[in-house]
Amino acid sequence: MAATEKKSAAPASKRNATLSVDSKTVEFPMYDGTEGPSVIDISKLYSDTGYFTFDPGFMSTASCESKITFIDGDKGILRYRGYDIDVLAEKSDFLEVSYLLLNGELPNAQESKEHIRKIKNHTMVHEQLHFLYRGFPRASHPMAVMAGAAASLAAFYHDSLDVNDPAQRELSAYRLIAKMPTLAAMAFKYSIGMPFIYPQNEMNFSENFLHMMFATPCEKYTVNPVLARAMDRILTLHADHEQNASTSTVRLAGSSGANPFACMSAGIASLWGPAHGGANEAVINMLREIGDVSKIPDFIKKVKDKSSGIKLMGFGHRVYKNYDPRAKVLRQTLEEVLGELGKIDEPLLKIAIELERIALSDEYFVERKLYPNVDFYSGIIYRAMGIPSKMFTVLFAVARTAGWIAQWKEMMEDPKNKIGRPRQLYLGAQQRSFIPLEKR
Ligand code: ACO
Repeated sequence: MAATEKKSAAPASKRNATLSVDSKTVEFPMYDGTEGPSVIDISKLYSDTGYFTFDPGFMSTASCESKITFIDGDKGILRYRGYDIDVLAEKSDFLEVSYLLLNGELPNAQESKEHIRKIKNHTMVHEQLHFLYRGFPRASHPMAVMAGAAASLAAFYHDSLDVNDPAQRELSAYRLIAKMPTLAAMAFKYSIGMPFIYPQNEMNFSENFLHMMFATPCEKYTVNPVLARAMDRILTLHADHEQNASTSTVRLAGSSGANPFACMSAGIASLWGPAHGGANEAVINMLREIGDVSKIPDFIKKVKDKSSGIKLMGFGHRVYKNYDPRAKVLRQTLEEVLGELGKIDEPLLKIAIELERIALSDEYFVERKLYPNVDFYSGIIYRAMGIPSKMFTVLFAVARTAGWIAQWKEMMEDPKNKIGRPRQLYLGAQQRSFIPLEKR
């Protein structure tokens, strides 16, 4: 990496935290962010005391410095580079947001034109990738295909694998943001036995994505602008979310110097889990299971009965203890989509709206600060668009690629970046003698 590229400096410490352990007192510097909780820098804890910290699930651990995304879960705030998510969803678009995430500022007219040109320059994938797809069984989960396809890009694009070269890092970033929709649409087409549809660069990002998903070679397909706008909003809302599981996975993979295509594949694998990217699929299954508005009171009773093990899917969030700001935007988008498609009477929507009404006024949910999250609405929108539930997490990956690559870039530019190497509380056997097989 060029030395001039490295620009992050250690934050200034204005106060210390004191820890007394084993009759020894040690001081640790504290740093304040521009917003959000301050941190205690315990990086010298082990060398000073011989102890590790213990924080499974990273409940109290800031794993890095970042200037990209800010969340205040209590207030229901999500901002990319200081801009509120609802403002970006309303006034910006996914490609502009991808520039913002990568570069820290909104582009001016010339920068925007150049950004779009570069993305469009990379929408096609190497023709040989078609053979990779054809090696998968048609019934493969599309996330399995995506994890393989993203990693395979490293085998095709040797000229952007030097992670220490800023120009190659940028080229990889453009390739990834541009090619992910193509790879995703190919995974969908392959799963239903239809021919791949090549990108159309005269369309905008979301129009092109819908076109690759739904067009066929035998008839003209016109992209519905309301659906394209809805898709663009969904991509914008999912573009980044601070140091979540998949983003932390990307950073950890990248901390070893792994190439960005391999890192994205690691992110896709992490996102695939039902506790992360798979919840919107679960919302649809839940609404189907309820089946009718009249069955909601019984269902709510079951949710409140802990012994049932049933949760209200699409409600609650580890970070948001208020209305998820992305859910607010999606609720509006959902109405626009269903209005456009004439599906306003969609039974699942009726159930969803009634569930939301009851849950927002029911003491059980109010007391526990359980509000609708982004997954509560996204699945219904996708369903209305004709996207099968197996593809829901794939769409999440298309959007999150912008955040993953921006976070990876930020890490690679940080002079303090070192390989991520957590330690452990070892609870296994102590040293013991080997017993030969005949004596066991
Ligand atoms: N339905 C019913 N009760 C719930 C729900 C829910 N969806 N979520 C939490 N609770 C209850 C818990 O049982 C607990 O009750 P208690 O205090 O009486 O024991 C209380 O609310 C606090 O819940 P926790 O599990 O401590 O909350 P946590 O922050 O750990 O969990 C989670 C967050 C996993 C998202 C949880 O709310 C949940 O399972 N929701 C449903 C699944 C879902 O929608 N996931 C998508 C998250 S968004 C995303 O990943 C993009």
